[in-house]
Parts: sequence; C-alpha cells; structure tokens
Amino acid sequence: MAKGLAHPEIVSLSAGFADQESLPAETMRQAWEAVWSDGRSARAALQYGTTIGLPALREAILHRFADQEKRTTAELGASSDRIVITAGSNQFLYLVGEVLLDPGDIVLCGAPSYYVYLGMLGYQGARAIGVACDRDGLVPEAVEERLAALAASGQLGRVKMIYVTSYFDNPAGTTLSAPRRAALVDIAQRWSRAGKIYILEDIAYRELRYWGDEVPSIRAMDPGGETVILTGSFSKSFSPGLRVGWGLLPRRLLDPVLSAKGHIDFGSPNLNQALMAAVMERGLYASHLERLRARYREKLEAMLEAADRHLAPLGTVSWERPTGGLYVWLRMPEGLDTGPGKPLFEYAADRGVLYVPGEFAYPAAGPESPKNRLRLSFGAPSCDDIRRGVAALAGAVVEVSR
Ligand SMILES: Cc1ncc(COP(=O)(O)O)c(C=O)c1O
Repeated sequence: MAKGLAHPEIVSLSAGFADQESLPAETMRQAWEAVWSDGRSARAALQYGTTIGLPALREAILHRFADQEKRTTAELGASSDRIVITAGSNQFLYLVGEVLLDPGDIVLCGAPSYYVYLGMLGYQGARAIGVACDRDGLVPEAVEERLAALAASGQLGRVKMIYVTSYFDNPAGTTLSAPRRAALVDIAQRWSRAGKIYILEDIAYRELRYWGDEVPSIRAMDPGGETVILTGSFSKSFSPGLRVGWGLLPRRLLDPVLSAKGHIDFGSPNLNQALMAAVMERGLYASHLERLRARYREKLEAMLEAADRHLAPLGTVSWERPTGGLYVWLRMPEGLDTGPGKPLFEYAADRGVLYVPGEFAYPAAGPESPKNRLRLSFGAPSCDDIRRGVAALAGAVVEVSR
C-alpha cells in the first residue's frame, strides 16, 4: 500500500477493492429519496436501531437467501430472528470468535485462506491450522485427517470451527464442490464428540458469479441450521463503504452474539441499514448486480486474456480460471519466492505493478506454505491497467529468472 501511495502510476492488482465506476451512487440517491420521502421514515433511520438490526433488512436478506437456494425458509430452518446485521461481515466474524474462542482454541482453515481472518484469529488468541485445498476447494479427507490427528493428541476439544469461503474463494478463486459441501457438514457433525464443531461459511463473493450455475450453500445442507454459521456481506456486491454485513446463526449462538454486539455497539449504523433495505425492497439491488456482474466479467476476461498472452508463453506460470469473485491465484515457477522484499516483488513494483504475496494467506500451522503463489485482483483497476499490470508482472518474472 505504501508503494502504491508513493507511486500513483503503479497499477495495483493487490487490494480487493470494488470497481470505482460501478459503485451505486445513483442507486443510493434513489434509496435516499425513498427513505426521505416522508419525515417519519427519515427520522426512524436517524434514531438508534436494535442490536440485531433492522427487521426489514433482515427479512430482505432472508428471502434473498431462500430464493438463491430455491427453497422455502421453513425448509432451510432459517428465520429473520436468527439474522444479525453487522458492520461488514468482518464484524460478524469477529463476534463469532469473541463468543466461541478461548485462547489456544483451534479453527481449521483452508491453506490458503482469507488473510484478514487469519490475522483476526491470531488477535483473538486462537490457532488457525491449515488444511489442504485443491481446485474444488477445501479437501474433506484432509479435514478429517487433521481432526483424527488432533483427537490422537488429545486436542479435539479445542477445535471450535472449520472456516470456509465457499464461493470464489479469497485468494484461490475456487468454489467448493457440491459433494464436498455435504461431506463437510457430515464431518463436523461426526467429529463433534469432545465439543461442538461449527462450520463458519463465508459467502462474501456468492453474488459475484459470472459463469455457470448457482450451487447450494453449505448452510442449505444443514437444514436445522445448528452446525453451520453463515455470513454474507453487501461489500462486494454493492458498496464496501456502507459497511453492511450479516450472519445467520444457530439458535444457541444467537443470544451470546447479540450480547457481545450489544456491549460493543448497540447495533450497526441504522441509517445505512435503512438505505440498504430500501435498495432491496425496490428491486434496485438485483438491477445493480446485473450491471456489476457484466462489468466484472469483462475485467476477469481481460485478466485471463492478458495472462494467456503474457504469462502462458513463459511456460512456468500456471493458474485456474475462476468463474466469479475478484481474484486470480497464480503459481509462479518452483523456487521463485513472491514474498514482500523479495526480488520478484521489487522488480514487479519497479515495472509498475503490485500483487498480494501468497504467503500471507497460509495459516502458520498445517501444510507448509508454498512461497511461489500470488494473488491478483481485477476489481478496482481498469481493463487497460489490468493488461498493463499483467504484462509488467510477466516482465518481472523474466527478469528475476535470468
Ligand atoms: C472472504 C472474505 N470475507 C469477508 C470479507 C469482509 O468484508 P466486509 O467486512 O467488507 O463485509 C472479505 C473482504 O475482503 C473477504 O474477502
């Protein structure tokens, strides 16, 4: 970030920011006008809300979830009184940790995983242990092996959660396959012997699908909703500046989470929730998403084409082709360290491009972190900058391999 700020001409393919041009300024104006159309709704939005969040927004989230699953809320065992609105899904992740984790407790995470969450777990005194992932996401057999090893060393009771970004993972771009979703629920339930093991399903990127069919969530495979904690966000699909995220909780976690949240903030900003509810109730969210998906699809195509053009000929760089999300996850030549301060990172910055070193995304425990991975994001830069950035990265790989 420091380099990017010092050299504004540098193309940042690093941060997972939103496409600036697509941010819904006009949609928000309409939502604002709707809330301000009468004094009562405007004043209600300016008042304190409740800790759990605005009923209209929780209802809208519930029904969108049920629509995506093509199931009724009853079939899903979901209701709006189990949905908590938070300041971004990060706050929800934090609250769940606050409630479930004691120092030294264990959360199984993909290797790689969302690195902000790994940092949060460290901050909360928990241990993130990595589990192998492949092109279909987290490998259930690896989860089971890890649980067996922890049981053998008397630590099964310390395992509190399995964290999964189930759609278009950050950073790997992978989507957990349907059979693996069912397998994970089964594993979490079977291994909840020494204490309950939850699955924490993070669907931050679910709405950003550019190709292929919708896949049911892990939560949909847990109809009682007592094993899977689900969290979503409007940051990637609408506006990160609004800071509106949410979680759907197992019954027994609802009161503890609300208690923690009540002590922290009395509820997330009510005005932002009222605006987001107006956006959803008026059908403005769906039309925004359609435009946004088209825009990101174009950017992802630009990145994949640039990779085919500049990186594929090197013969030593490989990647999977994501069908949604904001990231392309690259494997550099064996032995080439992508870390900060290492020659590739410096050469790339000198040539005008920034990326996220893959090593940030690996839990300290678990499979050894490969040093040759890196994440590119196509969310914020223009298509031209994406092409320039990928070409610059290819130039840096050639330079460093000399
Ligand atoms: C996987 C994942 N989960 C959650 C978040 C948090 O987003 P927010 O707190 O803005 O909802 C992000 C943001 O990048 C993410 O990548």
